[in-house]
Amino acid sequence: MLPLLLSILLISVTSIWLWKKLVAKPDKFPPGPPRLPLIGSLPFFPAQVKNGKQKMSTWMQETFGPISGLYLGKRPMVILSDFDLIKDLYKKHEASGRPKNKPFHENRFGSPDGSQRGLLQSSGQEWQEQRRFTMKQLKDLGFGKSSMEDMINEEVAKLAQLLEKDVGKEMSMNLKLNLSIVNALWYLLTGEHFALEDPELQAIVAKFDSLLRLEIKNTPFSILMEGWMPKLAKFTSPGFKHMKDLFTDIKDLVGKALVDHKKTYDPDHPRDFMDMYLAEIDKSSNAPDSSFHGTRGEESLVSTMLDLFLAGTETTSSSLLWSILFLLHHPEVQARVQREIDEVVGVGNQVSLEDRALLPYTNAVLMESMRMATIVPSALPHAATEDIQLNGYVIPKDSVILANLLHVHYDPTYWPNPDEFNPNRFYDEATRTFKQNERLIPFSIGKRYCLGQSLAEKEYFLFFTGLLQRFTFEPAPGSPLPKIGRDSGVVVGILRNAPLYKTILKVRQ
Ligand code: HEM
Repeated sequence: MLPLLLSILLISVTSIWLWKKLVAKPDKFPPGPPRLPLIGSLPFFPAQVKNGKQKMSTWMQETFGPISGLYLGKRPMVILSDFDLIKDLYKKHEASGRPKNKPFHENRFGSPDGSQRGLLQSSGQEWQEQRRFTMKQLKDLGFGKSSMEDMINEEVAKLAQLLEKDVGKEMSMNLKLNLSIVNALWYLLTGEHFALEDPELQAIVAKFDSLLRLEIKNTPFSILMEGWMPKLAKFTSPGFKHMKDLFTDIKDLVGKALVDHKKTYDPDHPRDFMDMYLAEIDKSSNAPDSSFHGTRGEESLVSTMLDLFLAGTETTSSSLLWSILFLLHHPEVQARVQREIDEVVGVGNQVSLEDRALLPYTNAVLMESMRMATIVPSALPHAATEDIQLNGYVIPKDSVILANLLHVHYDPTYWPNPDEFNPNRFYDEATRTFKQNERLIPFSIGKRYCLGQSLAEKEYFLFFTGLLQRFTFEPAPGSPLPKIGRDSGVVVGILRNAPLYKTILKVRQ
């Protein structure tokens, strides 16, 4: 009798343990679809999410509210779709990790536990050290200061010259804007400048562009494999090999600049970001725990440079592409921006950052464009480094956290007629002043907000005004304009790119 009772007890305890481990969600987990052993919540996604017609975060927000949770395989994921909740959570250090991402961690010299070198995907001490250092050095290089202005304006002038060759012709602005933005950043980081037609620059841009546009068509099977068997996932994840090859190419490019720098570098006279980084590696030679130490330091350098390019090029050029599309839909807005620039700056004078405060309508157009574009619609995934209490719920340690910025920017309870492009949301007609709005957070918010915000805002303003001063953008007859609004855009990876469109440039008299 006793053995039978013991067996029943053992089976019951094991079943409860398995149920808790594999099926039950933790106490106070945010509402969401059920969870099954091994596969998590995937089978409960509706058809429009499975076939990519609706974003998963949109479905979660509409079905379960401002804070919702699900399981991707064994990994919990929490989605926040409310400005105040995101603001509260992203202030916390314990919500500022990044998910471990095997097998993709290999692309950034990852450790066996899945953690990564560099800035964008690192966590904990490594992230703090890299972020603090990069922010300080970029600031010293003129990031966030007006000395950066001349360099950006030079790129605007070069771009205008290039575009003049296409005036009157039907054209796409797509890869043209990237050239200038990559060139500016490459100069800042490595001290090297290219002509826009230089094949080396075009090769660099094409590599970043293909990496960022690389559409990895994950299947439920590949997602589950990444969670359960990351080593095998290299073979089951579509695009893994292509992505690895692109990363290798880009690392080679940065590696080549590194070899050249090492030959000529003088610690007392740093010329650019790379020199400053080499000096920090030297300083850390007696600090084996530092992420700047020795070989690890060089891996961090290559990863951090790679991250700055990945985060800093397509985002800025895509924002500009979107804003031109909005102007093509609204020629009256374009004309009003041009009038304001002509009145304040004068025809033929170079726009400067000091003019920003004097161009309230132009600023309102830029902010409304940022809202409608929301080019990073879920920010970058964060990870909880501990259990976190939020609004009566618990976000378990190791959860992936997404901030649904697209909903924050299109929430109809806050932005009336959100699909309408309306710069007056940020402009007061009566007082003719610009109206700031804290709910516009395209750079995210809190401890991990975009490190390049200050540079991005400067580039965005100077390129936009510089181009509108010289040209008028008109729709190309016979090429219908793609529609704008929440359901438009081409989401590839973490970016929501502007749909491709054609335009004709007219030189302004
Ligand atoms: C319009 C242009 C840009 C937009 C909308 C944008 C937006 C964002 C967003 C939403 C994040 C994620 C923040 C989070 O995890 O919560 C981010 C991170 C980041 N951005 Fe940007 N970004 C832009 C331009 C730039 C530029 C020009 C650079 C630098 C050259 C840059 C460097 C970074 C870096 C390094 C991170 C990671 C920060 C970290 O993990 O601590 N970004 N950006």
